[in-house]
Amino acid sequence: MKLIYERSQAGRRAGTVPDPGLPVPEVPEGLGRSQPPRLPELAEPELVRHWTGLSQRNFGIDTGFYPLGSCTMKYNPRVNERVVGLPGFRDLHPYQEEEDCQGALELMWRLQEILAEIVGLHAVTLQPAAGSQGELTGLTLMRAYFADRGELDQRREIVIPDTAHGTNPASVAMAGYTLVKVQVDERGNIDVDDLRAKVGPQTAGLMLTNPSTLGLFEERITEIAAIFHDAGALLYYDGANLNAVCGISRPGDMGFDILHFNLHKTFSQPHGGGGPGAGSVAVRDIIEPYLPTPVVVRDGGTYRLDHERPKSIGRVRGFGGPFGVFVRAYAFIRMWGPGLREMSETAVLNANYLLARLRDAYELPYDRLCMHEFVLSARNLKREHGVTALDVAKRLMDHNFHPPTVYFPLVVPEAMMIEPTETEAVETLDEFCEAMLAIAAEAADDPQQLKDAPHSRPVSRPDEALAAKRLVVRHEFD
Ligand SMILES: Cc1ncc(COP(=O)(O)O)c(C=O)c1O
Repeated sequence: MKLIYERSQAGRRAGTVPDPGLPVPEVPEGLGRSQPPRLPELAEPELVRHWTGLSQRNFGIDTGFYPLGSCTMKYNPRVNERVVGLPGFRDLHPYQEEEDCQGALELMWRLQEILAEIVGLHAVTLQPAAGSQGELTGLTLMRAYFADRGELDQRREIVIPDTAHGTNPASVAMAGYTLVKVQVDERGNIDVDDLRAKVGPQTAGLMLTNPSTLGLFEERITEIAAIFHDAGALLYYDGANLNAVCGISRPGDMGFDILHFNLHKTFSQPHGGGGPGAGSVAVRDIIEPYLPTPVVVRDGGTYRLDHERPKSIGRVRGFGGPFGVFVRAYAFIRMWGPGLREMSETAVLNANYLLARLRDAYELPYDRLCMHEFVLSARNLKREHGVTALDVAKRLMDHNFHPPTVYFPLVVPEAMMIEPTETEAVETLDEFCEAMLAIAAEAADDPQQLKDAPHSRPVSRPDEALAAKRLVVRHEFD
């Protein structure tokens, strides 16, 4: 496909702006351009075809199945977009007076209340703009709590399992804590004996996602919670996997004290590729005084921003947070209502359906019922035919499916982490299974086809490190 500069023809225009008949202001000496900018020159049809062509090279949840484990790529209902585009929400200004944006504040307050209820905790801040920022906020809250108790210098360690998402150890380091790793056992649970040896008066807390990144529910979670609470430590829940448990079990009831949501995953937002996110944080009552300010509160029938929280950790983001995400999440949750449980149950059912159909063609490292996602290994294909998880992922693109997450979690070699979500029809799940089974058969019959895949895409196998680190976005003119 040609670049827009390569399509450019001198003098072509997509439109003309009528002369406004106004005087042309003087540009001060030295501030004007010496030459006009070299912008591409195209007629409107070419321009439209160029951008439409580019958009068609993209892959999104609206164009196909996107089982990217841990990312919860579910369909984004159009009603969300309808609601977020209502002028009262769309045209808000962040400096608007509180009395002029009561509806927006009410929506934020209601969302806080609903989120607290879903996870069984007491208070919520909507400020953080991503799961990872929610993690840093949560750990900063932990610090504030222990500082207030005079235990900040004593409690220096955060325990995380070796299945943790990469953002967890990064957040631990950024929050100034020392990381202590705990192993998982042969069933994919935290190894409780290993854990006991690592928790003590020096421990600030545990950081865990449940179900884990293996898609497995921590079978001894209440025992684990007791180990930390008995040692005076706290439990942090990485809520990225909340899609598995809504309306079924609540992290607050499991013993977690602080949690972040990935509103953009569980409650549907067009995320990915840097799209908008929200990492709202929920806390138990003992942590509430430290929440970032301002907090949205209700006084009788009115809503306001409460800045008077002397123990607050302060702001973690400008203004009220990613407001458009709040509106979509609120619309999504209200659409499901009490049926939110069915959402999670269907997500779990879909994952188990795929697992049951694929388990004989690939290796299953932890042979248990899964939650909303599961991890297979391509180790058998590598051993027998030299075909890797990356080859399988690339070949799936020829079948018009987005690849699953690969090589994560790190404890599974040749890992493929598959998350179908609740929004996929059984026909789609079946088509995906047929593709995965065909690829496994092809690994035996014609492994080179997989090694050279994808065959049907404009870009085949770029050097991914180079593409990420040396992104060329500047056109070099002759
Ligand atoms: C388990 C887990 N934790 C945390 C995060 C971080 O969330 P975000 O991408 O919104 O920063 C992710 C994101 O993929 C995740 O899967």
